[in-house]
Amino acid sequence: MRKIMVANPKGGSGKSTLAVHLASWFARNDEIVYLGDLDRQQSSRHWLAARPRHLAPIRHWDLSSEEFEAPPKDCSIAILDTPAGLHGKRLKSPLNEVDKVVVPVSPSRFDMLASREFFEELAETKAVRKDKVDIGIVGMRIDPRTHASRQLVEFLQQFDLPLVTCIRQAQRYVHAVETSTTMFDGNGFDAVERIQWKPLLDWLVRRH
Ligand SMILES: Nc1ncnc2c1ncn2[C@@H]1O[C@H](COP(=O)(O)OP(=O)(O)OP(=O)(O)O)[C@@H](O)[C@H]1O
Ligand SMILES: [Mg+2]
Repeated sequence: MRKIMVANPKGGSGKSTLAVHLASWFARNDEIVYLGDLDRQQSSRHWLAARPRHLAPIRHWDLSSEEFEAPPKDCSIAILDTPAGLHGKRLKSPLNEVDKVVVPVSPSRFDMLASREFFEELAETKAVRKDKVDIGIVGMRIDPRTHASRQLVEFLQQFDLPLVTCIRQAQRYVHAVETSTTMFDGNGFDAVERIQWKPLLDWLVRRH
């Protein structure tokens, strides 16, 4: 079983969008996928509840109890969406359970600066866990050919964290999520998206 957490305490960085896309990608690839949501707003859970039944199934990973619950035994991929403002103990307990952490970062300078403390907290945890957890950054709503992506790479060098990929801004992401689907559910997944998602999907399945 692989456990993947999507986190960034900065609100609106693209966590839920990434989490549901990853869940549907793995579901389409015949994995038994569970999607959990630590957010009180339960964005991913609502998305999941309204997901059309004919699409590749994604199961609900119930995290409503106080203690962090492991996913059910039949799970092959567990995806965990998390809320804005997650830090301290509430961040540490899921961090200790997962194999990979994906951190979406938006292009603004403010978003990058707001991520600084979080990166430092992650680096500490990683050290504590002696490389048992892999942390990867995703530039969200960033065109990889632009100044914003170069700025992000420079910013990340201080933390020794890899920029796994950049995913461009596209209205289709917004529309897909609004209809409880993802870009991966249809057949209209275009070449640009394919190129942008591939490094992330490869990174997630790689064992370290
Ligand atoms: N690649 C993208 N292109 C266009 N819009 C995007 C993209 N990624 C995310 N968005 C939009 O940005 C907004 C915030 O995204 P999302 O809800 O995924 O962020 P979040 O980090 O989960 O937010 P919160 O911290 O409130 O849980 C949403 O309206 C979403 O549709
Ligand atoms: Mg969210």
